Amino acid sequence: MSRKIIIFDTTLRDGEQSPGANMNVEEKLQVAQQLARLNVDIIEAGFPASSPGDFEAVKAVAETIKGPAIAALARCRDSDIDAAGEALKGAKKPVIHTFIATSDVHVEKKLRKTREEVLEMAVNAVKRAKRYTDYVEFSPEDAARTGFEYLCQVVEAVIDAGATTVNIPDTVGYAIPSQWGAMIRKLIETVPNIHKAIVSVHCHNDLGLAVANSLAAVEAGAGQVECTINGIGERAGNAAMEEVVMALKTRKDYFNVEVDINTKEFYRASRLVSDVTGFTVQPNKAIVGRNAFAHEAGIHQDGVLKERTTYEIMDPADVGWMGSGLVLGRRSGKHAFSKRVQELGFELTPEELDKAFERFKIIADKKKEVYDEDIEAIVADEVYAIPTKYQLVYMNVMTSLNGVPTATIKLKTDDGKELTDAGIGVGSVDAVYKTIDKLVDAEYKLADFVVKSVTGGTDALGEVTVKLETPDGRVYTGRGASLDIVEASAKAYINAINKLVYYQSRRASQLTNQ
Ligand code: KIV
Ligand code: ZN
Repeated sequence: MSRKIIIFDTTLRDGEQSPGANMNVEEKLQVAQQLARLNVDIIEAGFPASSPGDFEAVKAVAETIKGPAIAALARCRDSDIDAAGEALKGAKKPVIHTFIATSDVHVEKKLRKTREEVLEMAVNAVKRAKRYTDYVEFSPEDAARTGFEYLCQVVEAVIDAGATTVNIPDTVGYAIPSQWGAMIRKLIETVPNIHKAIVSVHCHNDLGLAVANSLAAVEAGAGQVECTINGIGERAGNAAMEEVVMALKTRKDYFNVEVDINTKEFYRASRLVSDVTGFTVQPNKAIVGRNAFAHEAGIHQDGVLKERTTYEIMDPADVGWMGSGLVLGRRSGKHAFSKRVQELGFELTPEELDKAFERFKIIADKKKEVYDEDIEAIVADEVYAIPTKYQLVYMNVMTSLNGVPTATIKLKTDDGKELTDAGIGVGSVDAVYKTIDKLVDAEYKLADFVVKSVTGGTDALGEVTVKLETPDGRVYTGRGASLDIVEASAKAYINAINKLVYYQSRRASQLTNQ
């Protein structure tokens, strides 16, 4: 019988720590639901003591998501452990994940403690976490740069204190696969009570080795891998779940382990995480990149047509990729559009489909060929649609060389009012945004603005992602797609404002109902 490898997802915690990847509670819930569809074993939902928003998100995930165990991160401090225990109250399988740094540089320079003090804090934290749940994970942060003997001492002590998982992190992405694998093997051979705990690894990608190091650890006997969708995470990120899992599955002949992941959900998970974070997936990204299964060379195409396995080691359908189908155009009917939308992994309600089809027809009228990427951009607006407080009904932008960009904007509110104003800016988008700011009743600042062309050519659909930050530190991501980049920018801005207004009023009504 082959060993099962536990997949511990930390997209919502370490992934969300990537600068600019902030997700609000609702977005975290959407991602958590998709992680449950993927059938991950554990979802690390956040770090409750780090902010009220994180606490709220962990609580919401713990109360809503069924299936996977739900983990919360905590430093080795009583207040952190208590916050984690409290936030996880609604979870069926709560996991408290507590950590403290053990490398000399962290112990001496960051914590300003002795090794003995750190060991005592680790043991106390595990014991306190046990008051809340049986399932306690401990991580010696920066394990890859921790002296081996001390690492073994800490691991043995926390297992004695009740830790059921010991997670060995390569916090700074310093390890090299063969050396990391050998270290994990030696740790398993050396720590006398190691059989009482699951050995996990958590690898960062600073040298581009996070996946390779995770796989080396599995080979050496690790029973759990911590990873994120699309490999997002601190700095260069964490090990990408889709890569780790597909390597273990595709090379089962080599690893001889089992994973319980529903891999057909990878493509959709990747797109969702990209949508909510605004982090685009590079086209050549393994498993989920747009080109991951594209064959350009004639000789390859010929080979694949004759026998898929000549150039494909995985079936694209196994990761939820339906392949690039026919290019749609102005003559394509609703049936063809709806079929393609489904093949691309979207499930739309009839109303969402109608709206998306309407947009598709407008675009297909102006643009000869509508590609999958265009359809994804169009549909994404409908799939993640929220009630629209403000709707853009008129926009006139004037710009010229050496002139002052000017924008006139008319918005319609959900109660039928029309709001009109004009303004200037340093560029067209700036003029549009400054004018919209005058019209809407909300407080925020622009935290990020990304423009990308969905396909090639000057008639390409432009996609804009904006992030707005409110004074309480919450971030709302908006997206807009259009053949005109200024219009896409305006749509993205209004989409983010609508989200902000909607979620703020929802939170306010939840508070008054409590
Ligand atoms: O990278 C790291 O060390 C971590 C720990 C909290 C596990 O994220
Ligand atoms: Zn980490």
